[in-house]
Amino acid sequence: MNPLTQFTLAELRQRTSVKWRMYADDVLPLWVAEMDVPLATPVAEALHAAVDRGDTGYQYGTAYAEALADFAARRWAWPDLRVDRTAVVPDVMLGIVEVIRLLTGPGDAVVVCSPVYPPFYAFVGHDGRRVVEAPLGPDLRMDPAALDEAFRRVGGAGRRAVFLLCNPHNPTGVVHRRDELEAVAELARRHRVRVVSDEIHAPLVLPGAHFTPYLTVAGAEDGFAVLSASKAWHLAGLKSALVVAGPQAVADLSRLPEEVGHGPSHLGVIAHTAAFRDGGPWLDQLLDGLHANRELLAGLLAQHLPSIGYRPPEGTYLAWLDCATLGPATGPTTGEPGVVTDLAGPARMFLDRARVALSSGHVFGTGGVGFVRVNFATSPAILTEAVSRMGRAVNES
Ligand SMILES: Cc1ncc(COP(=O)(O)O)c(C=O)c1O
Repeated sequence: MNPLTQFTLAELRQRTSVKWRMYADDVLPLWVAEMDVPLATPVAEALHAAVDRGDTGYQYGTAYAEALADFAARRWAWPDLRVDRTAVVPDVMLGIVEVIRLLTGPGDAVVVCSPVYPPFYAFVGHDGRRVVEAPLGPDLRMDPAALDEAFRRVGGAGRRAVFLLCNPHNPTGVVHRRDELEAVAELARRHRVRVVSDEIHAPLVLPGAHFTPYLTVAGAEDGFAVLSASKAWHLAGLKSALVVAGPQAVADLSRLPEEVGHGPSHLGVIAHTAAFRDGGPWLDQLLDGLHANRELLAGLLAQHLPSIGYRPPEGTYLAWLDCATLGPATGPTTGEPGVVTDLAGPARMFLDRARVALSSGHVFGTGGVGFVRVNFATSPAILTEAVSRMGRAVNES
């Protein structure tokens, strides 16, 4: 059973989350990273059982971390994800903010590889840290020279700085290789920059690629990773995530304020635990469906929008489309990075003329102007209709 084909468009329009409510009913929403899937049966059953027993108090214990550790050992050959080096946090972005607070002070720098997930700018800036960009290379992979240059500017004796790694990378869908991550660890050590790895998309690696947990690479012992079941099992509304400290970051983790653990939802912890513990077969079906959609999208773009650049992602359910050839019709972009709902350039044009909502490239920072991000975690029918509409909008203009 393909989880991506279980709902009709009419059924999806009954939803009340931001993906389905932000735009009018004639718009096909392929923007924010929510999936058009039902819950995995083990997750739904765990939630129903909790409701039946009135188990809706405060979260407690290590079941979530144990389920993740077991999943990581089975799926990613990560043998030593130690439960006593983890902390439950409300969600990935708040976990990242809390870890950055442990490692830096106001005004300190956080390096990101642009273009990257817009809240990296928004949350880091909101917390009084300075975002410094180390743009991806032309192949959309991390550029060691750009990282070296950025780390040199922000790191060094007596200074505190963090590299916020996106592993796998949103919006490009690049899955970093072990050698690339080792190079990151080596550069970070050399310049005394601490690494925080956002691994929320880790379970969503598609056939042909292999996920490497940052904390398993040589030199990453003082790093942090933040993981969650929320992207891969569609649980963003059921708040919880896990911070994992490397062996040399345990003392830092011990300074995490107790109140941070008050934020996660108990029902969220129950759902996320069930996902990592029992949601593997459902995930495999999802990955088959996403792999098929990745191929379908390639065919649809070749047919309807052949001038658009598309490098099929290795992971995530996000496609990063280069619309530069659509030309001046797409309009200039002037907005700042970080505001996920801001629309300009090709994304504005596709909303106005095709009634398809995409994420606008400019909010992903340097390198994003002229791009759109497509969320293809939807049914083949909706994906086909959306790209057909986009093609008509361009070809009839
Ligand atoms: C790279 C990345 N990090 C974090 C998040 C948000 O995670 P959370 O809702 O747990 O804060 C997303 C959501 O799409 C994401 O793509």
